[in-house]
Amino acid sequence: MSTPHRRILVTSALPYANGPIHIGHLVEYVQTDVWSRFQKMRGHECYYVCADDAHGTPIMLRARQEGITPEALIARVAVEHRADFDGFRIGFDNYHSTHSEENRHYATTIYARNRDAGHIAVRTITQAYDPIEQMFLPDRFIKGECPKCGAKDQYGDNCEACGASYSPSELRNPYSVVSGAKPVERASEHYFFKLGDFEEMLKAWTRAGHVQKEVANKLDEWFDAGLQEWDISRDAPYFGFEMPDHPGKYFYVWLDAPIGYMASFRNLCDRTPGLDFDAFWAADSTAELHNFIGKDIVYFHTLFWPAMLHGAGFRTPTAVHVHGFLTVDGAKMSKSRGTFIKARTYLDHLDPEHLRYYFAAKLGPGVDDIDLNLEDFTARVNADLVGKVVNIASRCAGFVNKRFDGRLSDRLAEPALWADFVAAGETIAAHYEARDYARAVREIMALADRANQYIDEKKPWVLAKRPDADAELHAVCSMGINLYRALIGYLRPVLPGTAARSEAFLRIPPLTWEAIATPLLDHAIGPFEPLLTRVDPTQVQAMLDASKEDLAKRDGGTPAAAVPGPLASDPVSPTVAIEDFAKVDLRVARIVAAQAVEGAEKLLQLTLDLGGESRTVFAGIKSAYAPADLEGRLTVMVANLAPRKMRFGTSEGMVLAAGPGGKDIFLLAPDAGAQPGMRVK
Ligand code: MSP
Ligand code: ZN
Repeated sequence: MSTPHRRILVTSALPYANGPIHIGHLVEYVQTDVWSRFQKMRGHECYYVCADDAHGTPIMLRARQEGITPEALIARVAVEHRADFDGFRIGFDNYHSTHSEENRHYATTIYARNRDAGHIAVRTITQAYDPIEQMFLPDRFIKGECPKCGAKDQYGDNCEACGASYSPSELRNPYSVVSGAKPVERASEHYFFKLGDFEEMLKAWTRAGHVQKEVANKLDEWFDAGLQEWDISRDAPYFGFEMPDHPGKYFYVWLDAPIGYMASFRNLCDRTPGLDFDAFWAADSTAELHNFIGKDIVYFHTLFWPAMLHGAGFRTPTAVHVHGFLTVDGAKMSKSRGTFIKARTYLDHLDPEHLRYYFAAKLGPGVDDIDLNLEDFTARVNADLVGKVVNIASRCAGFVNKRFDGRLSDRLAEPALWADFVAAGETIAAHYEARDYARAVREIMALADRANQYIDEKKPWVLAKRPDADAELHAVCSMGINLYRALIGYLRPVLPGTAARSEAFLRIPPLTWEAIATPLLDHAIGPFEPLLTRVDPTQVQAMLDASKEDLAKRDGGTPAAAVPGPLASDPVSPTVAIEDFAKVDLRVARIVAAQAVEGAEKLLQLTLDLGGESRTVFAGIKSAYAPADLEGRLTVMVANLAPRKMRFGTSEGMVLAAGPGGKDIFLLAPDAGAQPGMRVK
């Protein structure tokens, strides 16, 4: 029953380094982790690597908004991501970053080899440009009025109000989300990857069974539509790798992101004696490469990724495995419903094993979305894991410990039942291999039902009261413990924590698939300790409540308020504690626009740039400043004041000024070297 030895490199998509891990992400990391743990249990040489995806405009702007460097931001987020993944027992063999020397090396190599082979084109294109921030604007950083229905503040691709889709250039009164300025068109030279050069290769790759059926169908549509050249360069300012031959131009984040898989593996090889990078990545490699991804990033992984690898003389993926999206209670995760659940919030309230099990029980090999129904989650985890599986051990262990000195009997009471459990191992393995975890779990639960039936029939609690039934009691309970051991062995890829606790209780080394088939006979087990707790519905509710609170905290900190003038405080202020003062988020802001407010004698409406977001603030400073004198100047604002609805609009913060009033109001201005978004301490 030994399987041929395989060398397997497994990856999950690299999470962006500007946000927390949430339970939607975890569908993917759990799916991949189960597969990788399964392969290791089968005795294969398997490595599971991942990294943070650290480059790109959103990360650059997010860092600026927080008043820190991108390097500081990605370092902080890396710590958070790792802690979240550890919490869910995602067993990476390496977790790296795309902002690393290894990644710079491979991104540069892959680009240069493709360039030298003639697969890079250069063209001048025009794009939206923010004249204040002096940067090109990705589509999602432009908003405006919907050209169809006129709804305000819509993104450049579709309208949330009427559902129309259009291109950013069609937006009416467009503005930059970064500074609030009106974008202008600007030309610049860009570098393109000639995807069309790889059409034949990609068609052959697609049809050779490297992707799921649904994905192959989608690819056929893309082939029919024609493969476009792919823009792989971005202009400064950008957080990424500068192109080696074109200073001032940077690799687009999606060029170096998948190369991060190689970089992470290289980093692992460099600290693992005997692990040979080329054996996994050379064009003629006999190792397997499996990339697990979500359905939103298929184009990058099934076209650009294999093409650029091939163009640079590296191997292509053995398989790209695509999964669907997570919904919660039938709907997209929602911040207001509390169903946008961060990994950390989940871990604060519930056991990671519960979610791993629930996802596994729902995950099939296809690209369908999966739903986390919270009632079903509670019922299913409690019924299956606690009621069926763990229950077997708890029903038998007490008797073995109390009556037989913790020693299992030296033969199996029901060899036929045992043989069925062992035989099921290959079927279950085939389901895991095919990523049909739902079927694997169904098979395992059917076995658990049979184990419980066996115990129900033999009634050890009745045997325990009969003085002549000692031998039978011993045999039945030992059989029960062995059935439990097989079940937890089969569930081990899904439940690594429960399996580890079980291995400690059974006093056995980590279970392998092969070891499961050999029963534990005449073997001393340890005292029984709870292996898994029930899902407590009040904890589920507490998690949802906490997710709503997260939202309140966040949004309280974003759009802030309006005060009809900076001088509204009492003449004698009560003292505030340092903790209270620390809550005030003071930021440098640039006044992008200032205008009089019709019907308001003292007010000016200010548009402030916080270095990544724009705020509207009404300030009572009209008596001292003409709008034109303010535009372009820096000031200091309270960025986390609660938003306040005023007659003229909502004010989202407060600017700081000093003076008695009238002509003598002095807007506080930092030194000219300050940057919008900087924290004022
Ligand atoms: N950084 C890119 C991936 C680069 S891979 C070279 C990215 N990051 S992400 O953080 O947005 O998503 C990481 C993975 O999580 C993706 O595969 C994505 O499909 C998956 N998911 C993100 N939200 C998800 C759900 N709600 N449900 C299921 N998977 C989800 O994309
Ligand atoms: Zn509209």
